[in-house]
Amino acid sequence: MRASTSRPAFEPCSRLDELSAEEAAVYRQLDPLKMPQHVAIIMDGNGRWAGKRALKRFLGHQQGAESVQFVVEMASRINLPFITLYAFSLENNLRRPKSEVNFLMKLLRSYLVGNVQRMNDNNVRMEYIGRIHELPSEVQETMQWATKATARNTGTTLTLALNYGSRSEIVDAARAVLADLIAEAHRRGCSLEDLLQVDGIEARLDEHHIADALYTAHMPDPDLVIRTSGELRISNFLLWQIAYSEIFITDRLWPDFRGIHLLEAIQSYQQRERRFGGLGESFTDEDLDALEPAADVAQEIVAKLAPKQLASR
Ligand code: FPP
Repeated sequence: MRASTSRPAFEPCSRLDELSAEEAAVYRQLDPLKMPQHVAIIMDGNGRWAGKRALKRFLGHQQGAESVQFVVEMASRINLPFITLYAFSLENNLRRPKSEVNFLMKLLRSYLVGNVQRMNDNNVRMEYIGRIHELPSEVQETMQWATKATARNTGTTLTLALNYGSRSEIVDAARAVLADLIAEAHRRGCSLEDLLQVDGIEARLDEHHIADALYTAHMPDPDLVIRTSGELRISNFLLWQIAYSEIFITDRLWPDFRGIHLLEAIQSYQQRERRFGGLGESFTDEDLDALEPAADVAQEIVAKLAPKQLASR
């Protein structure tokens, strides 16, 4: 069942003493009633960070893994329920040199092994989204171990998107919906066509069915998407889920991103007016009452146009 988007009771930060003076100053400016429930981050710029220092790309990734831990711990301190990090895309897997892919897999394993204790200290639960079954088996084993070792935690859920692509996620969801329908038709001893005719296809396949079949069915959609390194792209990340997310782009390269920058992104998010396709809070019923009826406005336009049109004939 898809996670409810209604706001859970707000839990204020009880770990303010763990923030630096600078971080606490930004945190105090945040509106506790407008905290996001889910922040998703496209971590970009590891290679450029290394290149600027004449270092190998690998060292940029290594430094990027440090940033992951800083940011996750900040998320946990401020009671952010969900943080999702784009750590390795399907395209990275297919298009990067084998040596870089192998290094990223090793880095992931050593990150998990080295940080599970800190995850537990911070009450963080580890999850993953993506075509995980295509990753090397020893990597999958370490991932499962980390999930199990943190499963009892009740604070922030850290989801790593690994071998992830949003289009393939939607394809997987469509296949799952179809497989369920075929299984039901078999159970009932009828054809798929007959099954769809009973209730109508609209009742069998709508946005909720797709959303419930996505890897993210158990989480609310991201309120905020952050992309580092200044690129203005979404890069096949959570395309369905970010339909109404606010987007924050920073030029900062991921290895330089810290907890305070997460707080600053949330501060920017809180200044946005989210309208979800509606009119937003700044448009009130009084504004509506004050509007002239559409028929009056139309009549006024026609009256203004008519003499000009007559003259041009
Ligand atoms: C983009 O930088 C980043 C990645 C492809 C991988 C993200 C990986 C990490 C942050 C480190 C490992 C993560 C975990 C969870 C251990 P890029 O290489 O595309 O940078 P560039 O665009 O500057 O070349």
